[in-house]
Amino acid sequence: MKPIDTNDAVQSSSPETYLYVRSQNEEERKRLNKQYNFMKHQFREGRLVHDPSLVLSPDVSILDVGVGTGAWLLDMAKVLPSTANLYGVDISLDLVPDVVGYFPNLHLSQHPVTSLPAEWTNKFDLVNQSLLFLGLTKDAWPKALSELFRVLKPGGRLQLLEASIEHWHARPGSADHKMECMGRRLYKKHSLFEDLSSKMSPLLSAVGFREVTVDLKGIPVGPEAGNAGREGSETLSLAMSQLKGIVMQYSGLGVVGSEEEFDHIVCEQKREWDEGVNTLGLTYFISCARKPRSSKL
Ligand SMILES: C[S@@+](CC[C@H](N)C(=O)[O-])C[C@H]1O[C@@H](n2cnc3c(N)ncnc32)[C@H](O)[C@@H]1O
Repeated sequence: MKPIDTNDAVQSSSPETYLYVRSQNEEERKRLNKQYNFMKHQFREGRLVHDPSLVLSPDVSILDVGVGTGAWLLDMAKVLPSTANLYGVDISLDLVPDVVGYFPNLHLSQHPVTSLPAEWTNKFDLVNQSLLFLGLTKDAWPKALSELFRVLKPGGRLQLLEASIEHWHARPGSADHKMECMGRRLYKKHSLFEDLSSKMSPLLSAVGFREVTVDLKGIPVGPEAGNAGREGSETLSLAMSQLKGIVMQYSGLGVVGSEEEFDHIVCEQKREWDEGVNTLGLTYFISCARKPRSSKL
């Protein structure tokens, strides 16, 4: 097979297609919950709220964007009094478990982040968004962030947990390099920011956010991190395997010829992490920002 150029130009296709083809089943719910718990303990240090100066009043209003299985919102519902107003949106609510029904103060609805309800202007004290980096194109990010700005109260806080691929420079010939190549081609096809962590601060400032922070943090993957590293490579490998659907929709993106070949590369990439041959190419980061108190919106 000819060497892979990770920068190969590819024809752009519909940017509306969400990059990972979500299987709406119990297995996917389990995977997302496992990933959420791993990120919570190994990346967020157990914290649900990242700005240490934020005090949540008993009647606080909170929005979670892209709720997935609702794990973060359910965690918040468990620690906050029933007077707190908890809202969640997603383009699909199929993965939310029935247990949300036990919380009368928890409201879920189907909306894309780029078009939130008009009546939510200046409504929320805190907005949380986690792992939408495969769902938002370069054009969608400014629209999404201006919607999040609009729905926050003046003085309200935003926290984002996202990932970026700009520091992914795998060793040529490795399975990780093949995954990097497929990743970069998908990013180009879907017009996603490869350097999202660098873009985040200017994007947030451009829509009016202030006190912007972007905190890049490592995720334990590989032998040096012991049990956490094993859990990390398992969790991230399962996330990589979710790209199979979209890669095969593009006939393997010039890297793989079959589903079996894709599966093999995912297994090999995990082995490379477990043996310490390659490190994780994705860079995860937490970004916090505040809507100015004086904002007219
Ligand atoms: C990888 S999951 C993350 C779920 C959850 N936030 C977490 O951290 O576990 C991404 C979620 O974002 C949702 N999503 C994708 N694009 C979206 C959009 N434009 N607006 C709202 N939700 C979106 C998907 O349906 C999916 O549930």
